[in-house]
Amino acid sequence: MSLKLGDIAPNFQAKTTIGDIDFYEYIDGKWAVLYSHPSDYTPVCTTELGRTAQLKSEFDKRNTKVLALSVDSVEDHHGWVKDINETQNTEVNFPIIADEDRRVAELYDMIHPNASATATVRSVFVIGPDKKVRLTLTYPASTGRNFNEILRVIDSLQLTEDYQVATPADWEDGQDVIVVPAIKTEDIPAKFPKGHKEIKPYLRTTPQPNR
Ligand code: BEZ
Repeated sequence: MSLKLGDIAPNFQAKTTIGDIDFYEYIDGKWAVLYSHPSDYTPVCTTELGRTAQLKSEFDKRNTKVLALSVDSVEDHHGWVKDINETQNTEVNFPIIADEDRRVAELYDMIHPNASATATVRSVFVIGPDKKVRLTLTYPASTGRNFNEILRVIDSLQLTEDYQVATPADWEDGQDVIVVPAIKTEDIPAKFPKGHKEIKPYLRTTPQPNR
């Protein structure tokens, strides 16, 4: 059964490019992005893992650990990492799980038989410090993911965890946010002293409260 938002992300032990890990110990109470790719030595995946490595400081700023996964071996991962570093002008700086027996892929439902019987699809799980699944995304093999979007979602998740706000379409960190419907309009000034706009009784915005 596939994991749903709010489910506890299951723990696992796995071989990776940084040695054997226990997932919960590795993420250590931080936010985590666990994502799968179809196969090593493939072009789209090469750009995706390179992009992730280039964005390390952005993930660090968000207290977020990243792990990639495919059903290839650690030896394949190590060989391929050299290509990623060379072609994407970076240094892969996060573990790649070698899920040869597909244990983790099955636990996280990363193999979609109608897409491929054997390879993982491009799944993404954002997991909170409480180990709950906060976001799931599934992309086909032919479409590389937008890692700026993954960072943007983490910004929204972390903001909306701390404040009674939601983020509108295409929101980027620093832009106005939406006051959640549970707050009465007359209570907004006390909660959001930077001001607010009432566009409709159900659509009230305020400057991002933590900026
Ligand atoms: C790729 O990463 O380029 C890729 C992987 C599987 C199928 C198609 C493309």
